[in-house]
Amino acid sequence: MTRPLPWERDALKRAAAERAVSEVEDGMVLGLGSGSTAAFAVEALAARIAEGLRVVGIPTSETTAALARRLGVPLTSFAEHRRIDVAIDGADQVERRTLNLIKGLGGALLREKMVAGASDRMIVVIDETKLVDRLGGSTPLPVEIVSFGWQIVLDRLTASGCGPRLRLAGDRPFTTDGGNFIVDCAIAEIPHPAALEARLSAIIGVVESGLFLGLASKVVVGRSSGVEVIEP
Ligand code: A5P
Repeated sequence: MTRPLPWERDALKRAAAERAVSEVEDGMVLGLGSGSTAAFAVEALAARIAEGLRVVGIPTSETTAALARRLGVPLTSFAEHRRIDVAIDGADQVERRTLNLIKGLGGALLREKMVAGASDRMIVVIDETKLVDRLGGSTPLPVEIVSFGWQIVLDRLTASGCGPRLRLAGDRPFTTDGGNFIVDCAIAEIPHPAALEARLSAIIGVVESGLFLGLASKVVVGRSSGVEVIEP
């Protein structure tokens, strides 16, 4: 595959996002993902809302909430809706065979995972560079941890076989919308993601990992040759 250039990737992301939004129906409660591809989905949704579509969305980050408000996408919360019909979100890596994902390079993984878990369907929108045969390798695995005692959490992550690095924003730790820190774990390959997920969640101080296993119902891939839809 010839790697698309950055501006070409945006066109592929937008095409995938628009295809996913074409599945949205009147009256739905939506999960609004985070990141650049999910932002294209919010834009596409706003265009349909301007034409008369009635939906409400639960945002997965403050950034997405701000974008939705600016574009006139009505927002709601779990206080009003316990279930979501469809979540549309991006991903950092998608394993082609299983549709398991790595998410969280944008730092919104906890809310994204809660929204995905509360959704009847999760449509993942990516450009073709995110599709892999096996998770891990070039993409680090983000893990959200509590800020208190983050040093000992890092030690335990190291002992569990990850190569953890505290994510920084300038010279301070990057802080999530929930006030937690993010650690990016270098892992060569992840042949057994469920076992890794179990190991990580057993560490006291780990809030959530960026492994999204069995959550994606469909992946829409923007390719130079057109849009591909992959279902399990
Ligand atoms: C945000 O926390 C992430 O999970 C994003 O969904 C992911 O990083 C994909 O972002 P892009 O669409 O910007 O690549």
